[in-house]
Amino acid sequence: MRKEHFICPYTVFDNEAELDPKDAELLRLAHEATKNSYAPYSKFHVGAAVRLANGKIVTGCNIENAAYPSGLCAERVTLFAAQAQYPDVAIEALAVTAKSESKMLDEPIAPCAACRQVMVQVEQRSGVPLRVLCQGETGPIMAFDGIESLVPFVFLDKFL
Ligand code: THU
Repeated sequence: MRKEHFICPYTVFDNEAELDPKDAELLRLAHEATKNSYAPYSKFHVGAAVRLANGKIVTGCNIENAAYPSGLCAERVTLFAAQAQYPDVAIEALAVTAKSESKMLDEPIAPCAACRQVMVQVEQRSGVPLRVLCQGETGPIMAFDGIESLVPFVFLDKFL
């Protein structure tokens, strides 16, 4: 029996000025965080910032390693740091931006699948939809209200 299942609603904003001021500030902090990225191998600097339900902001960036798989994406660095510091506080929003040393990124970058897997469980843990904002170095912003539509057939802890 053939089935179809993929609906991914999202909003595109032409620039930061169109965003809610709280989201614009989160995105600005994600851009700031790209400056702390350690990416000597890919030369691709990713910054992320999360906003928690208590109003706190946590930022992070990708950190690479000479043993390549030991490095970690900006999204997971940031989400894990936020959960480590505020384990009982919901994460409401995540902004992700990037700056490449080799070209101008003027379209939003899409979080990798491993980070999306983590985002799903962040959302499930808190019970609060995770708003995800993605931008390149400049240009339009994609906003997703909740992560589950971004990850069909996710591996869930109910399978364990
Ligand atoms: N990277 C992220 O930080 N987030 C993503 O969603 C995709 C990729 C990092 C990993 C690596 O340090 C560099 O970008 C190139 O893949």
